[in-house]
Amino acid sequence: MNAEKTIFKQILSEIEEYISITDAEEEVCDLYSVYYSSGDKKRPSMVDSKLTEIEVEIKGSKRALNLSIIQNPNINGELGQTGGVLWSSSVIMSEVFAQRSSVAGDGRWDISQTNVVELGSGCGLVGLVLHQLGARRVVLTDQLRMMKVLNKNVEKCRITPNKKQKKIAAVDPVLFATEYLWGKPLEDMAITKEPIDMVVVSDCVYHEGIVPLLVKTLVDVCRSRTDGVPTAVVIGQELRSDLVHQAFVEALLSSFVVYRVPVSKKIDGFYTLYVAWLKEHTVDKQG
Ligand SMILES: C[S@@+](CC[C@H](N)C(=O)[O-])C[C@H]1O[C@@H](n2cnc3c(N)ncnc32)[C@H](O)[C@@H]1O
Repeated sequence: MNAEKTIFKQILSEIEEYISITDAEEEVCDLYSVYYSSGDKKRPSMVDSKLTEIEVEIKGSKRALNLSIIQNPNINGELGQTGGVLWSSSVIMSEVFAQRSSVAGDGRWDISQTNVVELGSGCGLVGLVLHQLGARRVVLTDQLRMMKVLNKNVEKCRITPNKKQKKIAAVDPVLFATEYLWGKPLEDMAITKEPIDMVVVSDCVYHEGIVPLLVKTLVDVCRSRTDGVPTAVVIGQELRSDLVHQAFVEALLSSFVVYRVPVSKKIDGFYTLYVAWLKEHTVDKQG
């Protein structure tokens, strides 16, 4: 792969616009001061967890992508508590990618050579959008009970492969869903068959118990790449509990360099977006 084209390098080229995070407590104070000062401003929601099929418009700066996503609000029997429905953070993350893509936005990020793995995909929106934006290969993952709805969405949202994808697709699917439970050994898993350039995670931290396993998994996935090229981690998260969020950022900071990506006045303070990479991949190593 042309080293200039790695998504890591492209993210790095905008790092001046991001906020460096070095202390979890400070980060939470910072975020929640915006949250509390938002007064009676309502948390924007881009989803409807009652629908069994939802039409989503992902706005790029040039054009929008329209996806029809199947939901199953009854997975686990708890309305809206699981990946059986879309979460707003997945729409926000998808738009950040769309705005930077050449397909729907200003083309700042070329993802045509990017192998993506999504953790905790739920209905799969972020990975599906990355596929439609031309990512080289996208693997969506979640728990076994999510596979049915995820596979339906893969079939619904698969686009005709472009020239480059066609070549890859001849030996390996460029979009597929597979069960992957955080913490499971990565050996023999379809997800690491090719070096992973980017891991995406949308709204997967909703209680403290999840934090160590998710962060360990992020470390394992990033370390599965042995050619020295850093894997970029992009995490979208709805801000709910300050304590849970602090525990997550603290755990993340123990292994990763973390930056917050400002999205917009409407979004920041309710949702947050981070980019991260393993500390051992210092920037000068990549020069
Ligand atoms: C709140 S949902 C978010 C779904 C989707 N990413 C979105 O933003 O719409 C969290 C997802 O994490 C998945 N998840 C939770 N624990 C997991 C684990 N231990 N291994 C794999 N996936 C897990 C759930 O099944 C669920 O799909």
